[in-house]
Amino acid sequence: MGDSVDSLGDGPVAQHWNPERYQREAGFVAELGRPLLTLLAAQTGARVLDLGCGDGRLTLEVAAGGAQVTGVDLSPDLVATARGRGLDVQVADAAALPYPDASFDAVLSNAALHWMTAPEPVLGEVARVLKPGGRFVGEMGGAGNVAAIVGAITNALAQRGIEVTRAYPWYFPTLAQYRAQLEAAGFTVDTIERFARPTDLPADITGWLATFAESFLSLVPASQRDQLVGDIRDALEPSLKQADGRWAADYVRLRFSAHKAAT
Ligand code: BEZ
Repeated sequence: MGDSVDSLGDGPVAQHWNPERYQREAGFVAELGRPLLTLLAAQTGARVLDLGCGDGRLTLEVAAGGAQVTGVDLSPDLVATARGRGLDVQVADAAALPYPDASFDAVLSNAALHWMTAPEPVLGEVARVLKPGGRFVGEMGGAGNVAAIVGAITNALAQRGIEVTRAYPWYFPTLAQYRAQLEAAGFTVDTIERFARPTDLPADITGWLATFAESFLSLVPASQRDQLVGDIRDALEPSLKQADGRWAADYVRLRFSAHKAAT
């Protein structure tokens, strides 16, 4: 097959998830999500929905704590991996959850909400499936997340005459913006914080780009992608490569706990 460009349309291409690559390059997602479990403090037997559960690594830890956990994710491949861990997980769109009203005591979401670029329908669904008094605990990329990475991608594509705006796949709100979104959906915000969390990568930035930046990389023909990735890597090396030779991505987190009114 010759060169191909997967998307010349108006929006980002759908991200495809390869479970083996995800496990190799993104194992830190579940590990660094553990503070959410403390914030969640799920009771034994509580019905918990893991929204955007990915390959189920963190979901499994919630289950191990005694909660009755269900997961949803849009990726059939990651859902298959999560099911292989024995989890009750379904392929579903967070904006159209396949559950009756008031089904869950809590909804948990780690590193998934920033992929859901229209927050209103998602938050509406979270509110709908929660029982009165139910809790929504989450962590996502906040304003400024991966700014250096996005800047390097933007420059490398601009040098090729390509504008990234049509491929931009993420939603990184400010604290005030997300608080307002939660409140507009009927939640009371108990805690919300935004903080920088430089995130050690298992190797250099090329694995991260291959795992998470498909929407941008697919803007160039396949034959040019290695060169594009190399240019991005070179541009980021001075800022993201640490003195010990390890690479750290410039993550900024938004972490919150909110609840639905009790009546
Ligand atoms: C994040 O967890 O912040 C993130 C992961 C992949 C792409 C963009 C952001």
